[in-house]
Amino acid sequence: MVSPAGTSRQREQVAIATARKPEEKADIRPARVASASRSLNPYVVFFVVVAVVAILAVIIGLLVYFLAFDQKSSFYQSSIQILGVRYSNEFSSPATEKYRTLSGNIESMITRTFKESDLKNQFIKSHVVKLRQSGNDLIADIVMKFTFTRRNNEASMKRRIESILHQMPNTSEDFGMTPIQLTQCGVRSGLITLSGDRIMGGSKAEEGDWPWQVSLQWSNSHRCGGALISNRWILSAAHCFRSYSEPRQWIATFGTSTTSPRQRVGVMRILIHNNYNPETHENDIALVQLDREVTYTRYIHRVCLPEANQAISPGSTAYVTGWGSQSYSGSTVSELKQAQVNIISNNICNAPAGYNGAVLPGMLCAGVPQGGVDACQGDSGGPLVQEDSRQHWFIVGIVSWGYQCGLPDKPGVYTRVTAYRDWITRQTGI
Ligand code: ARG
Repeated sequence: MVSPAGTSRQREQVAIATARKPEEKADIRPARVASASRSLNPYVVFFVVVAVVAILAVIIGLLVYFLAFDQKSSFYQSSIQILGVRYSNEFSSPATEKYRTLSGNIESMITRTFKESDLKNQFIKSHVVKLRQSGNDLIADIVMKFTFTRRNNEASMKRRIESILHQMPNTSEDFGMTPIQLTQCGVRSGLITLSGDRIMGGSKAEEGDWPWQVSLQWSNSHRCGGALISNRWILSAAHCFRSYSEPRQWIATFGTSTTSPRQRVGVMRILIHNNYNPETHENDIALVQLDREVTYTRYIHRVCLPEANQAISPGSTAYVTGWGSQSYSGSTVSELKQAQVNIISNNICNAPAGYNGAVLPGMLCAGVPQGGVDACQGDSGGPLVQEDSRQHWFIVGIVSWGYQCGLPDKPGVYTRVTAYRDWITRQTGI
């Protein structure tokens, strides 16, 4: 032990030693102080301990308070575009049924999205403040309530909320379609990407453009098209099943590729119109019941059925889609094609140079005057669709027959769906 009253050189040495042995610190003080501190030691120790405990307690208390109890509510405002819903005056007042249903749907969609996100503990609720119009789209102004602790950085929270909201309509590739759209018919998932369309003279279809299009395959090879009208029923042509009427041999595939379809579903039942006449092609309509429900996604979805009295105006634009051949007696293709055609009145279609009376009232013609654009072999059973003013797509025809493909004055002849609207209801309840 070093003596308390040492020389400055000794103190220096002690100081050096102290650097290594801190418990000897008291001993380096001058004698007087050293003796005094020796007698006060227990109190100092006690005081220091109490002080340290008190400080620790305050720190822990503050930490607990800030971490656990200092939650504050924050409100965030945002606007989201609702795909597939057109704005109408009925959305201008919150009192209308339409307004309430849609805003209820939007709110539950937002809740679901946040409850599945990493902000699930922070999200409290959302509220639609206003539905408004922007071009053809409907915009919902929404307010969301979150609880955050004060530590959370406002700006980064805002970014996280925005990114979750933005993922909403297009999240995982199949199930991104919003619940609102899933309850509706004839809604296309993507932005419409129709290019210079000329099936025969057609162009390749994009995923989700014609989500109701079905490939009906017999012994695993594509034979006919069809259109999904509910999650259990497909509308198609009677002539597809004439020699192939055993449901178990058929499957339905969904998606634009027949080689790698998005879903494959077995067939349970095939209902062919009782009065189908192969000679005249009259009543060329059939219903195919699936052995299970298909799951609607943004790529697989039903088309709307027209009302029995819905007018189909000659000259109006329609689209036909299918995997049929590109030329008469060509082979079918594996990627879905689309073609833009015009509705032709039965009168004109029945002209002597045309079909000369073979087009019956339950049939409908569509094509282009100069020819070159048409459905062809393998497109049979597939849909001819038209868009209404609300951007919903309706099936107006079923590919049925024609003289070869794409010849001038010999347009495609389709089963006129409006004429069979009641028959469809009688068979399926739809
Ligand atoms: N019957 C043909 C089929 O089984 C469809 C013919 C359509 N022809 C036409 N020119 N549009 O695929």
